[in-house]
Amino acid sequence: MFGRVKPLDAILATAEKKSLHRSLGAFQLTMLGIGAVIGTGIFVLTAEAAQKAGPGMMLSFVIAGVVCAFAALCYAEMAAMVPVSGSAYTYSYAVMGELIAWMVGWALILEYAVAAGAVSVGWSGYVVGLIENVFHIDIPNMLVRGPFDGGLINLPAMLIAGLVTWLLVIGTKESATVNAALVVIKVSALTLFIILAVPVMNMERFSPFMPLGFGGVGAAAASIFFAYVGFDAVSTAAEETKNPQRNMPIGLIGSLTICTIFYLLVAAGVIGSVGAQPMLGAMGEGLEPGSPELAASCAAVADQAVVCSKEALAWTLRQIGWPQIGNLVGLAAGLALPSVILMMMFGQTRIFFVMSRDGLLPAMFSKIHPQYNTPHVITILTGIGVALFAAFFPVGLLANISNSGTLFAFAAVSFAVLVIRRKDPSRHRPFRTPFIYLTAPLSIAGCGYLFFSLDDKSKLLFVIWAVIGLFVYFAYSRSRSHVGLGTVEVHEDDADAPPQPVPPLPGVPTPGGPQA
Ligand code: ALA
Repeated sequence: MFGRVKPLDAILATAEKKSLHRSLGAFQLTMLGIGAVIGTGIFVLTAEAAQKAGPGMMLSFVIAGVVCAFAALCYAEMAAMVPVSGSAYTYSYAVMGELIAWMVGWALILEYAVAAGAVSVGWSGYVVGLIENVFHIDIPNMLVRGPFDGGLINLPAMLIAGLVTWLLVIGTKESATVNAALVVIKVSALTLFIILAVPVMNMERFSPFMPLGFGGVGAAAASIFFAYVGFDAVSTAAEETKNPQRNMPIGLIGSLTICTIFYLLVAAGVIGSVGAQPMLGAMGEGLEPGSPELAASCAAVADQAVVCSKEALAWTLRQIGWPQIGNLVGLAAGLALPSVILMMMFGQTRIFFVMSRDGLLPAMFSKIHPQYNTPHVITILTGIGVALFAAFFPVGLLANISNSGTLFAFAAVSFAVLVIRRKDPSRHRPFRTPFIYLTAPLSIAGCGYLFFSLDDKSKLLFVIWAVIGLFVYFAYSRSRSHVGLGTVEVHEDDADAPPQPVPPLPGVPTPGGPQA
């Protein structure tokens, strides 16, 4: 029915050979999830969510979190059953065939590379704000904002993307200790924010709760979905999880629940302490984030509104009389966000790597550097792409485009889980999605709802990207596919295959190849 399929048994044979040590427990999985998830979404996009939904953004956080929870449960079954590199792309190849797998892989480029660009821009906003506030240097907007955001080029965002690329090329990975430290830094920054902002809340600021109606709440949910992206890192660790049937759902749902609680408290703190009503146009409509109209309204109030801020949490703390702590939170974001960029770019290079090994992308992409033992060609190409996104596009647009690709991939995985339950019901499943006939359709419907709640520009760009993908597939990849040529190979046990996109944890050996 689905054409070329990469045999699941061949993929699994490798995974068994690889047989990673099962060492992760529920706590470590939860930490892994929190580490991968908290980033630009909460630190930066809170301002965009406020502009779209006002105080109703609290509902948006819940909606996006619930959709993610359903998708995460579907992801976990696939990840436990097909525990090899390539994530959603590999699952789709085994279940729904090459064309869908290609489209999912193509969409994952949006999820990972564009998201890395978004987080770079988010990092830039905090670091610029920090420099301006600590050293009282006024950096011209021309150099720290893209052309669609009142500037010319975002140099700091380019710089961080370049730096992370360099780290990846020379094979740097966060050490276990650094990773754990960054989780502590992020969680402490949010906790500090909550402790200072929540007590000065004024409940009147929550009214009107949904100034732009439920449509605004949906639009904000579609953007803020970005704040939850990254939990798939948890499901790709299925193979190294002790008792995955028990620990995988705890890790996934646990990290999502903890993040949701933090996000809700932070959002409540912002709304209640400084107010989060959107800027409205002459007709009472909500002005589009990143639009010249919103920029003009912000200029009229001298940027004295959270919806105008590029560093929402630091700005809020400065407003409520904690400038030094605001700077500290800025510093925390400056230190911790690069690890999210690293994780995203690492994931991207591994997906490209697997696609190239399958023959769908040029073989040159999977070249390994003789000295550093990293896929340097594809890492540098990815880095150039990320740096260009970061230099020229605003964070909100990049996050929304990234979300469009992620939502497509999540929906595809949810569908794949359903298909394989019917096609191959007796296959061993270390983790079974509970109530699959309810969970998977709800996940697909939720992803569809969030996708259609995205702004028109992002949806259009997604469609254009998909059409380009189809073109590349039929013009290049289809005739070179190893499955199509009958040379199915199983690569994951190759000595030079780089490890899966799973960041290391304290006390846990890095899975995969010798690059670690
Ligand atoms: N969830 C990650 C972030 O918000 C991508 O930065």
